[in-house]
Amino acid sequence: MPAATQSIREIVAAEPSAAAVLERFEIDLCSQADAGLERVCAELRLSVDQVLEKLADAESRARGAIVPAVETCSLTRLIQHIVRTHHQTVRQELPRLAELGQRIAAKHGLKAPQFKAMAQMIELLRDEMFAHLEKEEQVLFPYIVRLEEASEDGSATPHACFQSVAQPISMMVREHGSAEGMVARLRELTNGFEPPEWACPRNAAFHAGLAAFEKDLRQHVHLENDLLFSRAIALEAEFTKRR
Ligand SMILES: [Fe+2]
Ligand SMILES: [Fe+2]
Repeated sequence: MPAATQSIREIVAAEPSAAAVLERFEIDLCSQADAGLERVCAELRLSVDQVLEKLADAESRARGAIVPAVETCSLTRLIQHIVRTHHQTVRQELPRLAELGQRIAAKHGLKAPQFKAMAQMIELLRDEMFAHLEKEEQVLFPYIVRLEEASEDGSATPHACFQSVAQPISMMVREHGSAEGMVARLRELTNGFEPPEWACPRNAAFHAGLAAFEKDLRQHVHLENDLLFSRAIALEAEFTKRR
């Protein structure tokens, strides 16, 4: 857990999720990097206890919310988990990383021209993933929830705008491949998410944020492709057998 006596640099180095929290309090990660949290809070007239509480919350979220038994829990519960954790991460992290990427490209683009391509790639990833989440949350996931309800109460296959759940699923799987391809390109452009030696704390926190996003996306795609989607296809097949 972070302490009031630690510097901003130490807090962000120990837990990358701290960067977003500090920025929300308008604490500058670069100019105040070596100042202690207590002093920075006093200068900005912030409650150090409140900042520490938010840092602790972010740390426990980053260390993993309660994960249901994903192999055996209901599909509805699995969907809730995916939306509350992984979709929340996409919505929170991609706009933040896109904005930081633009700032870093504008500041260091001459010294490190790959940062411009990197910033554009994050914006593309954000736009594609936001559209992807809408399709899942508005069309596919509600259908899977209705399918599970119908299976439990023995009613007919719910109405859908597609013939089989396999159709939207194959589109979602293709889009996962596209997002993973963009993240792989970001990994190349950032030399494996390693900040340059001359990177300031904000730049280092940005690279750590990208690495954490890659890890979260891997788990997100695994839960959907390997568990949710295959179980939804199998559940739909049971209705066909019943007829
Ligand atoms: Fe998703
Ligand atoms: Fe997805």
